[in-house]
Formats: sequence, structure tokens, C-alpha cells
Amino acid sequence: MLHRPHVTVVLAMSADGKIADIQRSAARFGSAADKHHLETQIAQADGILFGAGTLRAYGTTLTVNDPQLLQQRLALGKPPQPVQIVCSGSGALDPQLRFFQQAVPRWLLTSAEALTGWQNRPEFARVLPFYSEAPDWSQVFQALLGLGLERLVVTGGGELVAELLAVDLIDEFWLTLCPLLLGGAAPSPVAGAGFLEAAAPRLELLSAEVLGSEVFLHYRRL
Ligand SMILES: NC(=O)c1ccc[n+]([C@@H]2O[C@H](COP(=O)([O-])OP(=O)(O)OC[C@H]3O[C@@H](n4cnc5c(N)ncnc54)[C@H](OP(=O)(O)O)[C@@H]3O)[C@@H](O)[C@H]2O)c1
Repeated sequence: MLHRPHVTVVLAMSADGKIADIQRSAARFGSAADKHHLETQIAQADGILFGAGTLRAYGTTLTVNDPQLLQQRLALGKPPQPVQIVCSGSGALDPQLRFFQQAVPRWLLTSAEALTGWQNRPEFARVLPFYSEAPDWSQVFQALLGLGLERLVVTGGGELVAELLAVDLIDEFWLTLCPLLLGGAAPSPVAGAGFLEAAAPRLELLSAEVLGSEVFLHYRRL
């Protein structure tokens, strides 16, 4: 029996391992094939989880549009769109973002302080508390499972991924290696304090596919 949702991280990164440029702008360097890959992963999920930094950078979220993917969801008895879950401790989100006009179910995961400001508003169908000052991720994920979310896709950014990795709640990574170099102190797939080599989370490569100038890497967390 599942005790938490299955969690897959999907990110595109430059050949030097950066997920955005030094201005932390929205990363739009992936090809059309990479966008389709992301859409395919999203289409398999019940919920998409991302940090407020990612929402602030993009202002929107990727939805399932491909008719075949929509058909597959329908055949599995899933709603057309997975739930889009924003993680924001501060709750400092601009309600004018285009995200709030997109035809997707939206939930907010937030702190007790920010909770009340977003409750009973049209932007979020559900506002979930962290339960304590910092998120107790096992508890949060158990609650998400209880709400029917068995498969989660995490679409970034590095800060959220680092949090989840530190508490060992990530099962798989899809990393697309894209043909550009961003350099400098730009963000990478895993922010946070970093791991010493001896304690670094280890991965097993499940597949590596070359498409054009991009490499699609699929890893499992060991
Ligand atoms: N290449 C790609 O595939 C890809 C994909 C996604 C994002 N990106 C890039 O990644 C960058 C954004 O990543 P990021 O690491 O800066 O931010 P992020 O992980 O998207 O979001 C960080 C924010 O999430 C909230 N959060 C995360 N963990 C929390 C916790 N434990 N408790 C409370 N709140 C928590 C906080 O929001 P509050 O500040 O509201 O409290 C925090 O500031 C952008 O430059 C974007 O372009 C790239």
C-alpha cells in the first residue's frame, strides 16, 4: 500500500548544470521536444508541485494540451489537468499572474501565517497548511495522498528539490541536458546547503536518450 505519492522531478539544464541564467529568469532554453517530454511527464501526474520562485519566474504553468495525452488521461479516469500545487511559505504571490487565469485546478501549500490570506479566495481551490513552522514533508505528502494524489511531478526549482531530496522524498529524476552553457552563480537542479560527497544522494541511470542536440537522462534515486 502507498504511504506517500510517487515523486518525479523533471528539469532542463544547461550542459554546465544550470537550470536558469544568473538573473534567475524563466528557463526557456529547452527545445520543442523537451517541452513535449515535460508535457508527457505532467500528463502522467495527479499533481504538479513547484516552488514560489518558479511561479514568480514563469508567471504560468505548463498544461496538458496534446489531444493524445488528454485522451490517455480520460481513458484512465483522470481529470484533464493535474492539480497545480504552489509551495510558498510567505504566500507572497501576485494574483495578477497569468497562472491564475489558466484553466487548471490550483492548490496552495503554505504556512499558518499566510494561510488565512488565501483562504476562501477564487485563486486557489484548496489551501493546505504546512502543519508546523517549516513543512513536515512526510505529513504534507501523506495529506496529498489522502486527497487522491498518487503521482506527483516536481517541476522546480532548485530550492524545493533540495528540500525534498534532504528528506528523501524523491523517487526519480528526469534531467534534460541542453546544448548551451550558462556559467556563473546560476541556480542548479539542487540548491540548499549542498551535500558532502560521502553523503551525497546516489542515483541509478535508467535510460539516456539522445534527441537532436539534447540528452534525456532518467535516473532513479538509490
Ligand atoms: N530549467 C528548468 O527546468 C527550471 C524549472 C523550474 C524552475 N527553473 C528556474 O529555477 C528558478 C527558481 O528556483 P528557486 O530555487 O529560486 O525557487 P523555487 O524552488 O521554485 O521556489 C522557492 C520558494 O518556494 C517556497 N518554498 C520552498 N521550500 C519551502 C519551505 N520548506 N518552506 C516554505 N517555503 C518553501 C518559498 O516560497 P516563499 O518565498 O513564497 O516563501 C521559496 O522562496 C528560476 O530561475 C526558474 O527559471 C528552471
